[in-house]
Amino acid sequence: MLANHNACERKGAPKMPSGVKNVTMKKAILFSMMTISAFAAVSPRAGHAAGEGAGGDATKGEQVFKQCMTCHRIGPDAKNMVGPVLTGVIGRQAGTAPGFSYSDLNKHSGENGLVWSEDLIFQYLPDPNAFLKKFLTDKGKADLATGSTKMAFKLANEQQRKDVIAYIKTFSPDKK
Ligand code: HEC
Repeated sequence: MLANHNACERKGAPKMPSGVKNVTMKKAILFSMMTISAFAAVSPRAGHAAGEGAGGDATKGEQVFKQCMTCHRIGPDAKNMVGPVLTGVIGRQAGTAPGFSYSDLNKHSGENGLVWSEDLIFQYLPDPNAFLKKFLTDKGKADLATGSTKMAFKLANEQQRKDVIAYIKTFSPDKK
């Protein structure tokens, strides 16, 4: 009996230090989690998780926009050319620049709820035709998702898209 009792006590003995070790580990994990979330809170990327178009450099975007200028103008005195005026395009219903003759695909997208945001222009630029068709199809208007857009231009590069959108945004100052 006595021998058993001693054995029990000896078994129990190491529990204390191992318990202490555990707490230390937990503290360490908790601390690193807090550090990670504190970093996420101040990281500029975190705020844009849902807004893929955000985070560009408008100065670099002005250079990228030179490609758009084959067809578009932007600014207070801008006129429609091959493409519609892009002044104020962020927050504008698609297909509604006054005096511009749009394709049905572009016009129908606007009539079915497409309002340009930074995020949507970001998604549109790599493949405008596919974007508009998908938009109409997702709205249950697959019958209108035909023909093609007049915007025969694609911009795939992610950073260039962000930068050009930041530039366009400087001409749509009130819009997000
Ligand atoms: C080769 C000519 C051309 C180039 C280059 C071009 N676009 Fe376009 N874009 C057009 C045309 C034409 C339309 C009208 C499309 C339609 O009616 O289907 C258009 C439409 C748009 C629209 C939709 C406008 C609205 O009012 O609904 C946006 C946004 C746009 N372009 C952005 C850009 C940006 C940004 C660039 C440069 C990265 C660019 N485009 C380069 C010709 C061009």
